Formats: sequence, C-alpha cells, structure tokens
Amino acid sequence: MNKTVNGIARPLRGELTVPGDKSISHRAVMLGALSEGTTHVKGFLNGADCLSTIGCFRNLGIDIELSEDETEVTIHGKGLQGLNACNGTLDCGNSGTTTRLISGILSAQNFDSELTGDESIQKRPMKRIMKPLGEMGADITSVRGNDCAPLHIHGKPLHGITYESPVASAQVKSAILLAGLYADGTTTVIEPALSRDHSERMLTALGANVSTRKLPDGRAEISIEHCDKLVAPKEVLEIPGDISSAAYFISAALLVPGSDVIIRNVGINPTRDGIIEAYLSMGADITFENKRLSGSEDVADIHVRYTEGLHGAEIGGSLIPRLIDELPVIAAVAAGASGKTYIRDAAELKVKESNRIAVMVDGLGKVGIKASETEDGMIIEGQGSALSLNSAEIDTHKDHRIAMTFAVLALAGSGSTEVTLRDADCINISYPTFYEDLGKL
Ligand code: S3P
Repeated sequence: MNKTVNGIARPLRGELTVPGDKSISHRAVMLGALSEGTTHVKGFLNGADCLSTIGCFRNLGIDIELSEDETEVTIHGKGLQGLNACNGTLDCGNSGTTTRLISGILSAQNFDSELTGDESIQKRPMKRIMKPLGEMGADITSVRGNDCAPLHIHGKPLHGITYESPVASAQVKSAILLAGLYADGTTTVIEPALSRDHSERMLTALGANVSTRKLPDGRAEISIEHCDKLVAPKEVLEIPGDISSAAYFISAALLVPGSDVIIRNVGINPTRDGIIEAYLSMGADITFENKRLSGSEDVADIHVRYTEGLHGAEIGGSLIPRLIDELPVIAAVAAGASGKTYIRDAAELKVKESNRIAVMVDGLGKVGIKASETEDGMIIEGQGSALSLNSAEIDTHKDHRIAMTFAVLALAGSGSTEVTLRDADCINISYPTFYEDLGKL
C-alpha cells in the first residue's frame, strides 16, 4: 500500500497517548512465559513484531490470551523448564528482538528448535549472538551458512562467561542474560556504553539476581546469576507508551511552526531518552511533566512546543544507544534546523530493518535536503526556517521507522507538497494506528 502525506499549514495541537513500548512488550511475553504463575499485561503493543513473539511462545507450548484489541495479554507461565519443543519452524517475522532474545532462551533447552523470519530478518546479522552464546556452550548453526536466519538451535546445558560485546546492543546483551538464567555460575556482559536496560529491570522484578555497574572507562558491566525460578508479578504489568513512537509526534511538533503537543504516559527510562537530550541540545523546548514510576519503569508526560531557531548538533558517543531507533526522525528534524547536524558512532543503523543511513540520505535527497553518508553516520545540512520540501516518492524499504519519519517530515512542506510513501503499511510493525493518531493532531 502507498500513502501520500501533504504538508500542513496549521500547527499541531493537542494531546495523545502512544501504544505500549515495543521492547518491554516483547520482554513481558518472554519472561511471563518463563515465570511461575500468571502474568497480566496492560498496554501491550499490538504491533506485528510483538505478535510474532506471542506466536513463537504459543508454539513453544505457552497458553497466552489476548484481549480483542490485543493490548491486554494474559500469559500462563510454565517456569524456566516449562517450554516444549515446537513442531515446525518458529516464525519471528520482521523482529530482530524476537529472533535474538529467543535464541538465548532456546540455546539452554533440552530440545532443538529452528527459527526464521521474513526477507529482512534473513539478512540481519546473527553472528553477534551466535558467538557469545557459542562461548557459553550453545550449539547454533545458520542453516545457509551466512550467519543469518534460518537458525538451527540444538539446546544444551550452558555455562557462565564474561563477554565483551563490541556493540552496545540490548538485543545481544539480553540474549546472553536470558541464556545466563540457565547457565552455571555467573554470566557477565560488558558493553561499550549501557544499552536499554528493560531486561535487567524486569528480570530483577521477577526475582533474578542481576547487577549493573559502570566501569571507570565508561563501559557498562551487567551480570546475572544462575536462576532457579522467576515468579510472575502480583500486580498487573502496565507497559508505558513507547518513546520511540512518541518520537514522531515530538519531532512533528518541532517541524511545524506554532505546534504545542503533550504525549501522555511515555516511558522515559534513562537508557531510552536520548532523543530529548539531542533535541534540547538543538535548542528545543521540551519538558517532562508528572514524572512517576510505573512498575520498574520511569514514566512522564512529554510536553513539546515548536521552537524557532533550532540549530544543528553533534550526536554521537554513548548517546547513540539511547536514541538508536530515533536517529531517522532526528535526521528529519535536523533538516529543519539551521546549520549542519553530524551523526557519528552510529554504524549500527546499517543493520536495522533497512540500512537506515543509506535509506535516509537517499530519501532526504529526494525531498530536497542535502545529506551525505559517512562511515558511521550521516551529515545533514539543515535549511532552518527556510525549509522547503520537494514532492517525492520515498522507498521505505518496508522499514516502519523510515515510513513514519517521512510522514512527519512531509508535514513541514507547503500544502502542495506531496510525499508518497511506498509500502506505507510497514508501520504495522511497531505502530498500527500511526496515521490515524497523526491525523488526530
Ligand atoms: C531493541 C534493541 C535495539 C533496537 C530495537 C529493539 C530491544 O536493537 O534497535 O528496536 O528491544 O532490545 P539493538 O540492541 O540491536 O541495538
């Protein structure tokens, strides 16, 4: 399906909530399945990725009930040893999180599994989990020998290791920690900078022994002890709104003059709020209101007001893992800021659902913004308040974040600007009601 988005001449105003956090939704299903007792979840993200996780755990013998609107989930956990072999191949769809995290769990089972996903997932690098899990004793083979899915996992007893990950990746870290639940002794991951820590928070809440410390050189060290049991939470697990989805409205409000938007009940976990820090450094007016704790996660309402005179910034280093999924939309906002924005240390963007460096630079060029690729990021030449956009057709490469980014950027065009998104329905991966919600504002 293609979709055309026009520029709008009036400000975006109002308030909205966004669907539940994708990362937390995946983990709620996985850890709920491995817990003893029943986990009740509210605010579950009913996007295709999280539904893939539900599908996989149902195929591993877990009884999971979904409400009609698919935002409430009841998981009848069977404990750490309660999974059954799937008779067939587990389908992870488009979801890297499902593929990598479930691999950590399946490595330690007393049965074999085979998993795969769509065309995109079959091109994404899996060596990054195969290597550390292999060091723990796991037996994982890439069926086609290209270090990508399909993967065959021969479950085996595992042992703890200390692994220095070359990338700050929560998927890699979480795969190792989940395997570490089963492994003998202590399992430790050292990452170049702390990546999102939802696994650590939820594991701790369910009774696992997890510790994190910052090393003197800035790296993060996360350890987990062998675990005998996880216990389902007594209270309903309320998943906050996804800051990665809120990012599109925050960005839209910064691109469209006069806008004033409040996004309620958003997760502002400090390992995820890098976009706010980046926008503040560009001069934006964004505040957190009603800060509170929801279960083990920080939550707030995010109030964003259009700010004249936004300027370019340098975005890199340990900020990158805190805003990795938001970099495409930050690049779009950079187009409307004055001066250049440099995105560095972000080579990981090349191995997301699409090569987000190449795809963004290409798309920005099509709408008339000068941008260039670098080895580990991109440089965007902002047009400031003179921002004007060409009509164009954007190839989203079926990447949900690219589609939503160009939908938002299109709003900054004049009424006659038409940006057509190819395969616009890929937003179903993380935000099925995105176009409706954007329309409401
Ligand atoms: C995720 C981690 C990130 C992120 C992805 C979700 C997670 O990937 O891009 O959308 O839930 O752990 P990496 O850990 O590979 O950077």
